[in-house]
Amino acid sequence: MTEPIDRNLALELVRVTEAAAVQAARWMGRGEKINSDQAAVDAMRSVLNTIAMSGLVVIGEGEKDEAPMLYVGEVLGTGDSPQVDIAVDPIDGTSLLSNGMPNSVAVIGVAERGTMLSSPDIMYMDKIAVGEKAAGRVHIDRPVVENLRAVGEALGKAMDDITVVVLQRDRHADLIAEIRAAGSRIKLITDGDVAGAIMAASDDTSVDLMLGIGGAPEAVIAACALKCLGGDMQAKLWPRNDQERETVRIKQIDTSRVYGLNDLVSGDNCFFAATGITDGELLRGVHYLGGGGATTESLVMRSRTGTVRRIQATHRVDKMSRMWPANG
Ligand code: FBP
Repeated sequence: MTEPIDRNLALELVRVTEAAAVQAARWMGRGEKINSDQAAVDAMRSVLNTIAMSGLVVIGEGEKDEAPMLYVGEVLGTGDSPQVDIAVDPIDGTSLLSNGMPNSVAVIGVAERGTMLSSPDIMYMDKIAVGEKAAGRVHIDRPVVENLRAVGEALGKAMDDITVVVLQRDRHADLIAEIRAAGSRIKLITDGDVAGAIMAASDDTSVDLMLGIGGAPEAVIAACALKCLGGDMQAKLWPRNDQERETVRIKQIDTSRVYGLNDLVSGDNCFFAATGITDGELLRGVHYLGGGGATTESLVMRSRTGTVRRIQATHRVDKMSRMWPANG
């Protein structure tokens, strides 16, 4: 049993996502996904190593040999207690950022050691995410129209008032047709379903629920946020090709299993921070000021207390990066 975490780590984690966002946003619209990702990863890792914790990356940038940093199994932090699991996506929406489009964010979730679903063998999950009022009223195995009706009842909205966020992918053609047939509105996003799930669970956006297939790592990160917001999420593994279907067969993975919030992140002590990189509905992106300054907007949350903070900050970029150990 690991020691309970007695401080609000999210207030420290926001420095991690702010740093990633400020460094990554430099690459906005430059069509260079790898460089932007590297900038975000380097900044995140440097700041993570200043935080008093012993963190194990369970959702990261891939395996050790593919990703030089923030790989699954990497240990981060000062090595002091508490012992935690870390789920990171230095840029959720790398394509959005490289094309200068809205809604790319830097995100991190942290929870007590051993409580996060670690990197699954299957890279995608089918997901449904809703806010607190509709929590417990939807089920991923029900027909889309029934879930829309349940959300409508919970929110006191007619079917044609409901807005569903869906990743714009060919695999969602049937889903989109079903939502349209039910008469609800759709917000198609080209990337970024962590932000999509948070929008669905937040009262102050136009989105009421999220449906569809996206990354499995993103499901774990979003689950951290939704636990803090009091929302609900269910997800099922979705093998994307013959190779993954073969993995399912060999490892006897149950693709009918429904992962609830507590299966994705168990326990009631998780922390989440996100900082906008490009301007979006959820968060304002990084704006560079003259004279080396930059502003950020972040969401900072803790599940145990349910406190959600929006933090606006002004940074001196040169001074900020001098604080990181890698930069002396
Ligand atoms: P990255 O920017 O981290 O690569 O992820 C973007 C994203 O849109 C996620 O938000 C989403 O879960 C996933 O990609 C969907 O995968 P795909 O683009 O392969 O459909």
